[in-house]
Amino acid sequence: MCGIVGFVGKKSFDEKGGVNGAEVVVDGLKRLEYRGYDSWGVAIPGEKKILLHKAVGKIGGFELSSAPELKGTIAIGHTRWATHGGVTEINSHPHLSADKTIAVVHNGIIENYQEMRAKLEKKGVKFRSQTDTEVIPQAIQIELKKTPDFKKAVRNVLNELEGSYAVAIVVEGGKKLIGARKGSPLVFGIGKDGYYLGSDVPAFLKYANKAIFLDDLEMVEADEKGYEIINITTGKKVEKKITKIAWSIEDAEKGGYPHFMIKEMLEQPMVLDKTAATSNVELKKAAAMIKRAKQIWVVACGTALHAGMYGSYIFALNNDINLRPVSAGEFPYFAKFVGKNDLVICVSQSGETADVMEAVKSAHDSGAKVLALVNVMGSSLMRASDYSIVTKAGPEICVLSTKAYLSQVAMFMMLSYELNNKIAAGKKQLKAIKADAEKILVKDSLAKIKKVAKGLARADNIYAIGRGVNYPTSLEACLKIKEVSYIHAEGFAGGDLKHGPIALIAPGTPVLVFVANDGPKGAPFGGAAKEIVSNAMEVKARGAEVIGISYENNQVFDRYFAVGDHGIFTGIVAIIYSQVLSYYIALEKKLDPDKPRNLAKSVTVK
Ligand code: F6R
Repeated sequence: MCGIVGFVGKKSFDEKGGVNGAEVVVDGLKRLEYRGYDSWGVAIPGEKKILLHKAVGKIGGFELSSAPELKGTIAIGHTRWATHGGVTEINSHPHLSADKTIAVVHNGIIENYQEMRAKLEKKGVKFRSQTDTEVIPQAIQIELKKTPDFKKAVRNVLNELEGSYAVAIVVEGGKKLIGARKGSPLVFGIGKDGYYLGSDVPAFLKYANKAIFLDDLEMVEADEKGYEIINITTGKKVEKKITKIAWSIEDAEKGGYPHFMIKEMLEQPMVLDKTAATSNVELKKAAAMIKRAKQIWVVACGTALHAGMYGSYIFALNNDINLRPVSAGEFPYFAKFVGKNDLVICVSQSGETADVMEAVKSAHDSGAKVLALVNVMGSSLMRASDYSIVTKAGPEICVLSTKAYLSQVAMFMMLSYELNNKIAAGKKQLKAIKADAEKILVKDSLAKIKKVAKGLARADNIYAIGRGVNYPTSLEACLKIKEVSYIHAEGFAGGDLKHGPIALIAPGTPVLVFVANDGPKGAPFGGAAKEIVSNAMEVKARGAEVIGISYENNQVFDRYFAVGDHGIFTGIVAIIYSQVLSYYIALEKKLDPDKPRNLAKSVTVK
């Protein structure tokens, strides 16, 4: 939540070849908008004053040519998802000290800001905003009176902060960019023209493909000559590994598509291919951890939790292994049952989700091991886990998770096959699933889905039902629909229908019915398939419009979307229909599918 960007050029902007920091930072903010888009701002330290430009709303349409004064070798910027203080220009970052000589952008929450603010106000400091962030520049200004060494003064203030932060700091007339983190992500980029700070790698991927992933309580100071990283508590220098970023800038760009959401959905066959190519060494290591564990917990949030739930069905049906999925926010209630021989599998696209990170800490406190299935290399989760497999989605920019979900479920599938020593068969099956996914994403099929979406866009409520592996599929389908279209949507287990939810069905209510062939091989609608079709009959009898997403057509379906029969893995393909449906519903309602209201991609606060 909130994205921060910083840049310091290796050459002054006035020199030949020097780069305008404002250009880098504005570009970086546009790429980080998925982290928050309530308001944004940029600060450039000049000789005599800090140039500040802030605005409410998305940065997307802003052109630097409209603010030609924004020029400089050093710049910092912020795109906000409001936590403390309403969405106003005053509350947007960067925040300045009272004397306007220090500018700070911040991602995180300063938990002791009220105490700090009261202390500073007693000293006569006047605050402008309602944010927690403003205490940082204000406190640095006061600290500088005692400690004139700027770096030391910043360190002293950072040591006083409670809560979480990733910050970028500049000072009037200064030539240095300072970045620091505790509990919120911050990556330091190393490029040929300068040094970069970003909440995520896409912020500077266009300019640099080498990076240092800062750890908690680390602070970097960079200028045109070089950089130094120190520990914030001790002040001692820290040596850090430089990582080459595997992603390319094309992966993080729209590439001619109108939205990231459609681009990312269309990338899913490729993601499945890449997942099938996961190294056997990685799968074996993870499988060994699973085999050793007494109890296995799966902890995640939102879409990643649905992927974990799907994984738990795969392991139950294919491996006779019991995974216990728990929403990361609820995990503290069960943490007392986690033992030292347990394994906690954390699933996350960003690797920064606050509740997941807290679960990692609590698992480690109990002596349990943590295995991460995480998409962002170098993320906090990856670094905090005992072992991690990087899922193969590549950068996911759309706020809604689509390809990351597929990559997570497909990774559970690969692990399941590895545990049965049948990895070659798993790869073959995933290839077949990929071929099927491709068929859904061709022009004619998309046009058919779009037509159905047009009708659904008028609905007040949409429901989805599934059993077994398709229970999480139903939950995920409805999460996508509600977050992108703002239509109320709920997924249910077919068996739960008659225990209450069927009361919601009125004439014309659309119900998506997910059917997977998890019964005896070859039997038409065997196992759960038979039962979910009966549930479809029950809602149809009450007037529902039944949309079947199934490996076999049935007379109960008013509309039918076909998927191949991949047994318990059918949901991996079936979910694509509901993702595409959600996308077209949003377009029909003239909504921006990449940036739904109130949401941000990385939920780094609890
Ligand atoms: C929904 C969505 C969210 C995330 C959730 C967890 O489309 O994107 O529900 O899945 O916030 O995020 P990660 O996977 O980054 O931990």
